Amino acid sequence: MKYSQEDILKALGTVQDPDLKRDLVSLNMIKDIQIGDKKVSFTVVLTTPACPLKEKIRQDCEDAVTKVIGDDELQIKMTSSVTSVRDHTPILPGVKNIIAVASGKGGVGKSTVTSNLAVALAKAGAKVGIIDADIFGPSIPVMFNCEREQPEVKVKDGKNFIIPLEQYGVKLLSIGFLTPADSAIVWRGPMASSALKQFLTDAQWGDLDYLLVDLPPGTSDIHLTLVQTVPVTGAIIVTTPQKVALADAIKGLAMFKQPSINVPVLGVVENMAYFTPEELPDNKYYLFGKGGGQNLAEKYDVPLLGQIPLVQSIRESGDSGLPAVLKDGATAKAFTDLAENLARQVAIRNAKFESTKRVEFQV
Ligand SMILES: Nc1ncnc2c1ncn2[C@@H]1O[C@H](COP(=O)(O)OP(=O)(O)O)[C@@H](O)[C@H]1O
Ligand SMILES: [Mg+2]
Repeated sequence: MKYSQEDILKALGTVQDPDLKRDLVSLNMIKDIQIGDKKVSFTVVLTTPACPLKEKIRQDCEDAVTKVIGDDELQIKMTSSVTSVRDHTPILPGVKNIIAVASGKGGVGKSTVTSNLAVALAKAGAKVGIIDADIFGPSIPVMFNCEREQPEVKVKDGKNFIIPLEQYGVKLLSIGFLTPADSAIVWRGPMASSALKQFLTDAQWGDLDYLLVDLPPGTSDIHLTLVQTVPVTGAIIVTTPQKVALADAIKGLAMFKQPSINVPVLGVVENMAYFTPEELPDNKYYLFGKGGGQNLAEKYDVPLLGQIPLVQSIRESGDSGLPAVLKDGATAKAFTDLAENLARQVAIRNAKFESTKRVEFQV
């Protein structure tokens, strides 16, 4: 059977990325087509290593190309390269996507979600970092079991650089590292804003696919500092299903959506969606009400990225510094699914919109 690279490309041009709704060839996802003796190989470059559609895309490619090459041998290599549409700013040039994690209220599980999301993305093969900017309760050091550690400071070209810690494959900086764990320093807004700025401008993050920023609850100067210092790819809003939490979550959502800030909301995470006893995972008790996250997502036309159950082991994992997603079972899967959904929304956002602009206004 005789066929050319053109024929293979034409066949692959009929395969769509189900999320981006465009064909793989025009999305530039096909690389390195090789045609040998009764043998064809090529590489599919996915938009994220946490791609839930990997197998479907591979199968669709196989089906399309088999129509052209018949029984000849076919080898499809699947790799990934996370997309980015950031402006070429001098700040954090190696960081592809900055994602704000926000909530209306405190205690809804923002840090739990941030840490498990980060570890899940890293497990999938992505390069991930976290900035813990929650001045009211920087809990990332505890959740990563590194509250006694201190990031190193190195001098490069006469300038001081903070080297993030690394735990479970995730790079970390926390406002908590700047104060002893048992001290009662009250952070004033301007101090905290300048700490966050330092983490963004004077830290050596290197190359990252996703940098998650765990923000304080509510809307604050810290939020403004973030969007004024760097272009933020998007925000996710963590909420619990009850009315009071949802009402506050709406305010958070509205802040990112307001025209002067204009950071896309990538989705809502409903945490503590229902209680489930670990030994009876099919029993679900909707302690805080049912469907709150879904309703919020629908009303504001943003995706519901995931529903995380209220399980004792999630709290225990947080306290012991070993994120729940590192274990097996249904709880870990809830976080893995969440990470896949987030990665997917980042890819869709990057294919659809241009870079978020850094917010230029004074407060
Ligand atoms: N899904 C969950 N199941 C059980 N405990 C949880 C869950 N999510 C959070 N927690 C616990 O609730 C407390 C508050 O969560 P945290 O992530 O610190 O909230 P926030 O960062 O929003 O203040 C922590 O002790 C955490 O371990
Ligand atoms: Mg927190």
